[in-house]
Amino acid sequence: MGNSRYKNSSKFLMHAESLIPLGSQTFSKSRTQYPVGISPLFMHKAKGCYTWDIDGNKYIDLVCSLASVTLGYQNPIVNAAVRKQLRKGTIFSLPGKLESDVAEQIVDLVPSAELVRFGKNGSDATSAAIRIARAFTGRKIVAVCGYHGWQDWFIGSTSRDKGVPKEISDLTKTFYFNDLHSLNEVFKWNAGNVAAVILEPMNSIWPIQGFLSEIRRLCSESGAVLIFDETITGFRFAKGGAQELFNVIPDLTTLGKGLANGFPLSAVVGKREIMGEMREIFFSSTFGGELLSLAAANEVLRMYQHEDIIGQLTAAGELLNELTNEEIFRNNLHDVLSLSGHSTWKFLNWKNHETATALEIKTYFMQECFKEGILVLGTHNVTTMHTKKIVKEIASAYSKILSRIASKLKGNQLRDSLEVEPLAPLFKVR
Ligand SMILES: Cc1ncc(COP(=O)(O)O)c(C=O)c1O
Repeated sequence: MGNSRYKNSSKFLMHAESLIPLGSQTFSKSRTQYPVGISPLFMHKAKGCYTWDIDGNKYIDLVCSLASVTLGYQNPIVNAAVRKQLRKGTIFSLPGKLESDVAEQIVDLVPSAELVRFGKNGSDATSAAIRIARAFTGRKIVAVCGYHGWQDWFIGSTSRDKGVPKEISDLTKTFYFNDLHSLNEVFKWNAGNVAAVILEPMNSIWPIQGFLSEIRRLCSESGAVLIFDETITGFRFAKGGAQELFNVIPDLTTLGKGLANGFPLSAVVGKREIMGEMREIFFSSTFGGELLSLAAANEVLRMYQHEDIIGQLTAAGELLNELTNEEIFRNNLHDVLSLSGHSTWKFLNWKNHETATALEIKTYFMQECFKEGILVLGTHNVTTMHTKKIVKEIASAYSKILSRIASKLKGNQLRDSLEVEPLAPLFKVR
């Protein structure tokens, strides 16, 4: 079954899977999220806000490499800096000066940053932050809320915990966003033993008044280290991230996606006193000071300092939000689809309808979006390259797609209009 539009993708998947489990290095880029037959599965090229699959289909990209690209693919200034660095060397036998240049810019931009260490992935930074917190406090328990990467200490607390010893998962306690009671319970049952509270300061919904500041207070009172995982919100919600937007300053912060516009770089930053543990714990990797990503970050951060990047991201996100909401209401679909979160990282929330489940509707939406040349998964991850004109193009595609959804739901035909099996329930942490 499936669409000939994705002939090469579907065929190549078999080859890729004969060599690579799931055919992907990243869970959210794999066939677990993109139903085979109605989806592009492999990309060939990306530029600005566009991406092209291996069948030659062109898309406006709203995934933007899982929100790691904020200035559009192949930003010319970033790429020029990377090319210049390439001529000097990608990596040396001793640290390069660029590490300090980028660290200095992060300290200027991010309120909690006094000292900085770099990693490659968000998981490097979150795992380092947890180790620092345990070293600093001499305690074991960590309280988590949101997604924090693939390492044992976090993933062991989710439904995708295969391979993680129970002794490790037992040290991680989940609490819920905007639910202080759930965090208080963690403190109550682990009194004097909570090393860290780590959370995304915001993901799909806004923090209620006092939520973040009360967590700050609880951590200060109990001696736990407060870590904001700003892997996505950093360099997206404000120059200084969600901590600047909400004016709540954590002890440690993890940064990743927006830092180097798609080049692999992450950072754990924070208070001098706590980050000082880095001198004694072990956090070290061969590629930790790789210079192409640092050259990219150096330019990205310079642009954040001197241009209104946040304003551009926000304007694009707000317009997309407004026009999408207009289409949702025009098609009377507000009981089925709602948007939530910050305008620069908006979540699409699907609900069951009497004639189709949320997952069936989401699958149909994806099927139709891909046909119309829009690459979208569960969120709108806008970049500065999503201009007004592009956003209007997205809205006009949504207009067609949402009116199709409305009429199919009304006529009880949506299920029959699916060209493949609907998405299976996904591993969910937000
Ligand atoms: C909030 C958050 N923390 C941590 C991570 C892990 O980052 P990485 O996939 O780069 O290891 C992610 C990745 O999506 C994330 O969104």
